[in-house]
Amino acid sequence: MVTVSAPGKLMLFGEHAVVYDRPCLVTAVGQRMRVTVELLDMPEFLLDAEDVKVIGYKKQMSEVGIGEIPKGAKFVEIALKNFLEKHPMKTGIHVTTSEFSSFFGFGSSSASTVCTMKAISELTGIKLSNKELFDLSYKTILDIQGKGSGFDVATAVYGGTLYFVTGGKVIEPLNISELPLIVGYSGVKADTVTLIGEVKKKLEEEPEKVNRIFDAIKDLVEKAKADIVKGDWETVGKWMNFDQEYLRDLGISTEKLEAMISAAKKAGAYGAKLSGAGGGDCMIALVPNDKRKAVGDAITIAGGQVIDVSVNTEGIRVEK
Ligand code: PMV
Repeated sequence: MVTVSAPGKLMLFGEHAVVYDRPCLVTAVGQRMRVTVELLDMPEFLLDAEDVKVIGYKKQMSEVGIGEIPKGAKFVEIALKNFLEKHPMKTGIHVTTSEFSSFFGFGSSSASTVCTMKAISELTGIKLSNKELFDLSYKTILDIQGKGSGFDVATAVYGGTLYFVTGGKVIEPLNISELPLIVGYSGVKADTVTLIGEVKKKLEEEPEKVNRIFDAIKDLVEKAKADIVKGDWETVGKWMNFDQEYLRDLGISTEKLEAMISAAKKAGAYGAKLSGAGGGDCMIALVPNDKRKAVGDAITIAGGQVIDVSVNTEGIRVEK
């Protein structure tokens, strides 16, 4: 039996543009997905994933990836299918996932995919490099969602804070020791695939305008990368505010997110923006140490929920 864990993620800069061959910056959070895998003598696949209400799910190994798959079982089952296609095995497998709320949009699907893949490789002795682990897990996400840059998969694998280009063309860890963020949840669960679809529609309708926005976001990512490494938070905050304006132009911000962002800025944040697909989920604010309480209170008064999140955390690891 083996247990592995992988971190969730928070997008810092570059969301949506990163779906279209631009870079982004992302950090790993303290909230971790844990997956335990054991081999079985019978050629059966069993899954218990209490966090997504899948308990006692069972099928023959020969049926993995075939037929109707319940929503909560998809990522683990397709991860297993993709692993088996490359490395067939005769035994069965029991997967148990736990301890990660899919609630705040921290990327539970990607983290569970990466954990499943890693745990099976550890148990079977078929070692995967981090890049192989990324590639097989990213394929799994694309097989299911059809879309996505893979930034969340890279974060689950490598951890830390990454400069990332679509599909893992570049995965570059940034050498930083702190990132003074506050995270506020808007109370609304966002659907990433729907929002990616909305931006795609906009890109088709107004290609020049939207490509100009993506290029401007790319410039901000490059600037923010340099200033994050320097620890020049005041300037990073300014880039956040600019990025938020472009995201608003893309039509993915909401009134609630805007209220939380503006409250954070008024209370003394260096800068603030939504994080991820938009339409809900979380906003982030970059905050001087002596303003943390004021900014947290302001986000709460604006109707948000401040979430305790540590950032720049370790990537995938084998627990025991
Ligand atoms: O909604 P989240 O936090 O998973 O972020 C999605 C970010 C996008 O750039 C919109 C999509 C992607 O795969 O990069």
